[in-house]
Amino acid sequence: MLEGLRRLEYRGYDSAGVALVSPEGGAGLVTAKKAGKLANLVGELQERPLPDATAAIGHTRWATHGVPNDLNAHPHVAGSLAVIHNGIVENFATLKAELLADGVEFLSQTDTEVAAHLLARAYADSGDLPSAMRTVARRLEGTFTLLAVHADVPDVVVGARHDSPLVVGLGDGENFLGSDVAAFIAHTRDALELGQDQVVTLGPDEVTVTDFDGAPVQPRRFTVDWDAAAAEKGGFDSFMDKEIHDQPQAVGDTLLGRTDVDGRLVLDDLRIDEAVLRSIDKIVVVACGTAAYAGHVAKYAIEHWCRIPVEVELAHEFRYRDPVVGPRTLVVAVSQSGETMDTLMAVRHAREQGAKVLAICNTYGSTIPRESDAVLYTHAGPEIAVASTKAFLSQITAAYLLGLYLAQLRGNKFPDEIVEIFDQLREMPGRIQQVLDRADHVRKAAREMSDVPSVLFLGRHVGFPVALEGALKLKELAYIHAEGFAAGELKHGPIALIEEGQPVFVIVPSPRGRDSLHSKVISNIQEIRARGARTLVIAEDGDTAVEPFADEVFWVPQCPTLLSPLLATVPLQVFACELATARGLDVDQPRNLAKSVTVE
Ligand code: F6R
Repeated sequence: MLEGLRRLEYRGYDSAGVALVSPEGGAGLVTAKKAGKLANLVGELQERPLPDATAAIGHTRWATHGVPNDLNAHPHVAGSLAVIHNGIVENFATLKAELLADGVEFLSQTDTEVAAHLLARAYADSGDLPSAMRTVARRLEGTFTLLAVHADVPDVVVGARHDSPLVVGLGDGENFLGSDVAAFIAHTRDALELGQDQVVTLGPDEVTVTDFDGAPVQPRRFTVDWDAAAAEKGGFDSFMDKEIHDQPQAVGDTLLGRTDVDGRLVLDDLRIDEAVLRSIDKIVVVACGTAAYAGHVAKYAIEHWCRIPVEVELAHEFRYRDPVVGPRTLVVAVSQSGETMDTLMAVRHAREQGAKVLAICNTYGSTIPRESDAVLYTHAGPEIAVASTKAFLSQITAAYLLGLYLAQLRGNKFPDEIVEIFDQLREMPGRIQQVLDRADHVRKAAREMSDVPSVLFLGRHVGFPVALEGALKLKELAYIHAEGFAAGELKHGPIALIEEGQPVFVIVPSPRGRDSLHSKVISNIQEIRARGARTLVIAEDGDTAVEPFADEVFWVPQCPTLLSPLLATVPLQVFACELATARGLDVDQPRNLAKSVTVE
């Protein structure tokens, strides 16, 4: 159980707990829970070992209701029953008032404890745990994965799923449940995909699934093709460092198998009719955080290659205004986890308006692709570090594939450019590797700057989202002020921040690129240098024009401007990772963050 929790800890980690049912010596239900990281619970269990058990549930929590402390940690107990819960019970206040009026006493401030008491009561009425779970599932509003054990049924775990992930692992004389297959991959690769609004009853030799009304359901069986070792650190100091170094492969794997024998792009997983894709007149990318920055890169590329207007919007903003989308809009939802609730809600809203939704996602079987019309999977492998790195580069790669595919389908006015770009794209994994091979220079600069209070990032064109991503990485890992700006915006305000010694990263576009982009950015570097900034410049090999104005230059290989985010981002990831490490911080699990943000 602890090993499974360890593999899932990246999903949220402000407290952890387990509940066991142990027929041994009539021990019945036994629980242990502890605020803080999983290591605290492990320490507690070393001091106070639990008896052998026939069924167990365990949880790592990321607080939504009630501060992270021992009492609010899951499992929550009602009599001889314990539950764990992911999601939010939105009607918990009403339900709690009802239970309080009936004399129920609450120990925690969580919404989950309401579910525990309701379930204990439903079980007392029916004497049947699956049926009690169905009764409770019908009463709860919001999102939930709910698992329960009861001392009366010592070898049974019952689970319910509504808008929150849950998968079954099928073992030999043992079965598993997890929010993610990583939880049980050390034990089995055979798995069942549960649908929404289903209740699963697990015994050592049987798995039964019904809907919330009790009608039997036949879930889909699949084999997990991840290697357990892929979820380990592979010799690096942190998952983040490993994942930064996984990027050549992540991008390469995302490009794999996307062409037919004639070299034409084929996107097999797209289930949207070609005629529909030809008829779309607007693309709206919805995503959050890093995934939204991948969307910004997609806008530059797709508009240029396809001449289709592309809007990029944060999913939570899109959902709660009145966006103009319809049957001729393609909404592209970008999400590593496939579980981000803000993005899921935007997907649902877009579909309600008649738009077609394409998901770009890294997690097979997750909710966003399941609820979309089509999916383009990135093949980055599991991303464990909370801060996104390899998923970002894979999302950008998938967005390029989509752009090139649409250009091919709809007839681009520069067909040769499309062929050339695709050839160049295939060269990118090797070039990313070259950037990694040169990363010692960035690491040295990061260590030297470990006590700076603020770093700014400037970029233009596709360098702008790269600047935003560089700033986000530094904020979330090193907890220092970092901001990204469009370089052209500098003179409209941010230049006032520049003072003696202020470090500023500048992402310089290729001098071989379009228009006067390159010389404009060189002018921006001069402007900030003149005001005392310490300039850290990311420039293309051979761009000697930057040297006179740069305190440091981090060179990246040459490539077409639109593809350059795949290279320019990498030194910024390395910089943030190294600087945070030098400050003694945990780069894999930054404070206050969770890997899958499954609440709005
Ligand atoms: C930042 C980061 C987040 C995620 C965002 C969306 O390093 O990881 O900003 O990009 O929470 O997550 P997904 O892609 O899972 O929808």
